[in-house]
Amino acid sequence: MISSVYVENLRGVKSCRVGNLTNVNVFIGRNGAGKSTLLEAIYIASAWASPIDAVRDTPKLQYVIARRRRRRGRFGARREWEKYRDVLWFNKNTDEEIKIKLRFGEKELDFRLMYHQPQFPDAPALWLAVPLNSGGIIYYQRPSRFWSPPTKPPPLIPADFQIRVEEGLRQELEFVGNVLLLDSRLTPQDLELRVWPKLLDRRLDMLIVEMLKEEYEIDADDITYKPVGGEYVLALKLKNTTVEIDALGDGAKLAVLYASPLALVKNTAVLIEDPETHQHPAGLRALMSFALKIAKRQNLQLFITTHSMELVNIVRHLARELDMGIHVYFMERGPDGVVDVRVLEEVDVDILQKMGLDPRFLYLV
Ligand SMILES: Nc1ncnc2c1ncn2[C@@H]1O[C@H](COP(=O)(O)OP(=O)(O)OP(=O)(O)O)[C@@H](O)[C@H]1O
Ligand SMILES: [Mg+2]
Repeated sequence: MISSVYVENLRGVKSCRVGNLTNVNVFIGRNGAGKSTLLEAIYIASAWASPIDAVRDTPKLQYVIARRRRRRGRFGARREWEKYRDVLWFNKNTDEEIKIKLRFGEKELDFRLMYHQPQFPDAPALWLAVPLNSGGIIYYQRPSRFWSPPTKPPPLIPADFQIRVEEGLRQELEFVGNVLLLDSRLTPQDLELRVWPKLLDRRLDMLIVEMLKEEYEIDADDITYKPVGGEYVLALKLKNTTVEIDALGDGAKLAVLYASPLALVKNTAVLIEDPETHQHPAGLRALMSFALKIAKRQNLQLFITTHSMELVNIVRHLARELDMGIHVYFMERGPDGVVDVRVLEEVDVDILQKMGLDPRFLYLV
């Protein structure tokens, strides 16, 4: 489990430290506070260990840029990264390194994203900074699988050093590499091609149908592949008809999109961006109940950003029921880009609400 995250020079964040992380971590704060940036930091770090997003079949570094661009990409993944990556650097100051440090108890993974790499312009710019006993730092990278076809190999690192790093951090790197990002840009096609076949193999599709039955589509019977216009699309069998996933209500559709990849991962972190989108409170409860139960079963650490106090209360309640640790963090970004993060103790949230105060407005206090 990640115990703390430190981010420097990423997007609007000059620096931000979040400590005391637990099983379920909920982040609240005004628009632009840096909540999504925190999730993106963890996602970017995961690109070091596993560069391609398995759900979206896209290089992760390219996806962090693409998901912010509401326009159709005119270029391939690689050109898009070359042309637009400066948006990742704080105030576009591309001379600085972006630092992302993930601490796992005693161990720390220290990632650096660089804009310029004169000696290896084709290699990915993401490095693991490994301290040496002698006091220096080595920037280490695995052989590149970032773009296809494979690009130039990174600089040669002594094999014994490589083995020492990989062995010493094996569990942590595996945890980081499997990180899953759930955002509202997931599409039914992502599920149809890469997620649903695996769910079927393990019959985890039943869990999704159960969730739908609980709140969204009471008549749900089963999810099936259905031939439509020359391709196979996912569709929900109801009592009287079959409805394509695309045609479900927005709440049910997003619930299926968020829940399906979640059911497939274990021993890692899942980053869930604003899950309240399109959800009635009862739908939100069903979705979060699914997420927390899977998290408990599959050893997942959840990072959830939200603007919904309903979500905060639902998740606190569920976590208590399931005996999982939960923290609510209030984030506030100063004009200098330094982000202040406060853990709201359980009692704080309760007291604030009993006083009729809404923790989302803590910045006014
Ligand atoms: N390269 C950059 N340099 C400086 N500031 C940036 C840069 N890119 C984005 N920003 C700023 O960072 C902020 C975006 O932060 P982020 O998306 O993490 O906020 P958020 O808390 O998720 O907000 P919301 O609740 O609206 O989703 C915005 O205020 C934006 O103007
Ligand atoms: Mg956001």
